[in-house]
Amino acid sequence: MSDTDKKIVIAVDGFSSCGKSTFAKAIAAKLGYIFIDTGAMYRAVTLYALEKGAVSADGVDTDKVCALLDEISISFVFNPSRGASDVYVNGRCVEDKIRTIEVSSLVSPVSAIPEVRRRLVAMQQEMGRERGVVMDGRDIGTTVFPDAELKIYMTADPRVRAQRRYDELTAKGHNVTLEEIERNVVERDHADMTREVSPLRKADDAVVLDNSHMTVEEQMTWFLEKLNEVKTR
Ligand code: DC
Repeated sequence: MSDTDKKIVIAVDGFSSCGKSTFAKAIAAKLGYIFIDTGAMYRAVTLYALEKGAVSADGVDTDKVCALLDEISISFVFNPSRGASDVYVNGRCVEDKIRTIEVSSLVSPVSAIPEVRRRLVAMQQEMGRERGVVMDGRDIGTTVFPDAELKIYMTADPRVRAQRRYDELTAKGHNVTLEEIERNVVERDHADMTREVSPLRKADDAVVLDNSHMTVEEQMTWFLEKLNEVKTR
């Protein structure tokens, strides 16, 4: 295998709803790599905790959430009709359930629990052990794979991001307003950047991609240039 064929880890971190998953999925498909949406894992834990009464709109019971961790098994199963993997909890597909505004508004406090992060980070490191993965999240380049060969930090204007998430949810028939989505986006940015354990932050060696006014094709062109720089360095 030549050096340019060597499989690498690509970390895609950044703010919520800035198209990380769409971008990460596209580059994984282009390279024949596995795509792992780590946000879906935090959402899956949140959904399970919600169903078991360990979290609610009134707050998060950290001890109860931690006690549930041993009974949660998370897996990804490829769904050919979506061309992407669906997330499963204990063998049940929860792909749609984890995207609701209810889960979105509770996922930040759940993902701030150190024990939740410890477990999920260990799972993510195992998933990427053989490299050849594109992982999207908040702490991939800083904590999960600090040795990732290519680290991308994505950002976009909060209004653009809220509009994108709004379009996505209403297309799926969810009854939401643009204002509540924008509020949720801004609140999650703040919570993700200020939490104590692994806050969202750009790794020193990450390259920034602001895609506020970029098409998917333009982002792909940008990515291929960066990949070429990494492979020939
Ligand atoms: O990418 P997303 O919006 O689906 O992520 C949902 C939440 O999970 C987000 O608010 C922060 C958290 N998260 C995290 O803390 N670390 C990750 N690696 C991925 C997501």
